Amino acid sequence: MATIDFGGVLEEVITAEEFPLEKAREVLKNETVAVLGYGVQGPGQSQNLRDNGINVIVGQRENSKSWDRAAADGFVPGKTLFPIETAAKKGTVIQNLLSDAGQKATWPQIKTCLNKGDALYFSHGFSITYKDQTGVIPPDFVDVILVAPKGSGTTLRTNFLEGSGLNSSFAVHQDYTGKAKERTIALGIAIGSGYLFPTTFEKEVFSDLTGERGVLMGCLAGVMEAQYTLLRKHGHTPSEAFNETVEELTQSLILLVADNGMDWMYANCSATAQRGALDWAPKFRDAVAPVFKALYERVASGAETKRVLEANSAPDYREKLQKELNVIKNSEMWRAGAAVRALRPENRRKY
Ligand SMILES: NC(=O)c1ccc[n+]([C@@H]2O[C@H](COP(=O)([O-])OP(=O)(O)OC[C@H]3O[C@@H](n4cnc5c(N)ncnc54)[C@H](OP(=O)(O)O)[C@@H]3O)[C@@H](O)[C@H]2O)c1
Repeated sequence: MATIDFGGVLEEVITAEEFPLEKAREVLKNETVAVLGYGVQGPGQSQNLRDNGINVIVGQRENSKSWDRAAADGFVPGKTLFPIETAAKKGTVIQNLLSDAGQKATWPQIKTCLNKGDALYFSHGFSITYKDQTGVIPPDFVDVILVAPKGSGTTLRTNFLEGSGLNSSFAVHQDYTGKAKERTIALGIAIGSGYLFPTTFEKEVFSDLTGERGVLMGCLAGVMEAQYTLLRKHGHTPSEAFNETVEELTQSLILLVADNGMDWMYANCSATAQRGALDWAPKFRDAVAPVFKALYERVASGAETKRVLEANSAPDYREKLQKELNVIKNSEMWRAGAAVRALRPENRRKY
């Protein structure tokens, strides 16, 4: 472990320097890693593991688009691609990367596939933390571990192919074999993590549910819409409103934040912009603070989990979600966005 100073707080993290890929391969050399689910995380983690020389198979329900996708990605039916239960039985590490609602639905079958000493792996603390709602209570003869990449499975894969990585948190909930931590870190390195930082299942799920409902997705979408709508109401064109709300952020400012932090982004904007942003940031902070408080309370109480499980357990959940996404896609703001993106020089050159 390396000790790193995070803003004055010392934390232990693990990188490929402390735990090289060679060591991960050695730890996992006798394991069969069964990745259950080929949605978003499944493809990223399974292909990275495979490219890193780990023995990996995929479990996915047959006659589905996800099955076809796994086959197109080189997983061979009957050899490295199996129905979920078959893969779970064959695996010594069972990476449960079904959707969180899918994990609840399939748990009665999956638990019968576990053998003594297996590692049951999750990329979210959801099923274990909210066990009262999910019923996911593992037997005492398996390790229960977590590696949670902090980003989309799609980025996990593209970063890996570009020689980069995504940071992941890791946790051990149950150590039956005495080797749970070593297995967890080896898997974390082998799926293509940048650095690994320790957490617990509960901390992971509370922070993750808050983050995606908050700044990362829900809050971001909400504040963008509010500003765009305000500008339109005052007679600004869609092009102007979209540029001032989204395009300037995604094409310029957030990249400066990514490179060198918020102060660096401020420092690279006009003094007029800096003055205004410094004055207004606390007002926005204070306005949304009560919403964040309510959000965290709903996450901690399990109310958000209830909502997720109810909505995403419906047989037609994908169609319903798609309908809601289409409303966003077809709104003026995001149709304006499509026009703005098409006008980017690099996109125009294609035609
Ligand atoms: N999305 C991310 O990038 C991300 C990031 C970090 C952590 N995670 C965590 O990683 C895990 C997987 O998430 P994901 O986003 O990859 O999931 P997802 O895209 O929603 O994947 C769904 C997978 O689960 C299967 N599935 C759903 N319900 C099922 C059921 N009732 N029976 C059998 N299979 C079922 C789907 O099969 P079909 O295709 O046949 O429906 C598909 O293979 C979750 O714990 C999630 O919280 C995800």
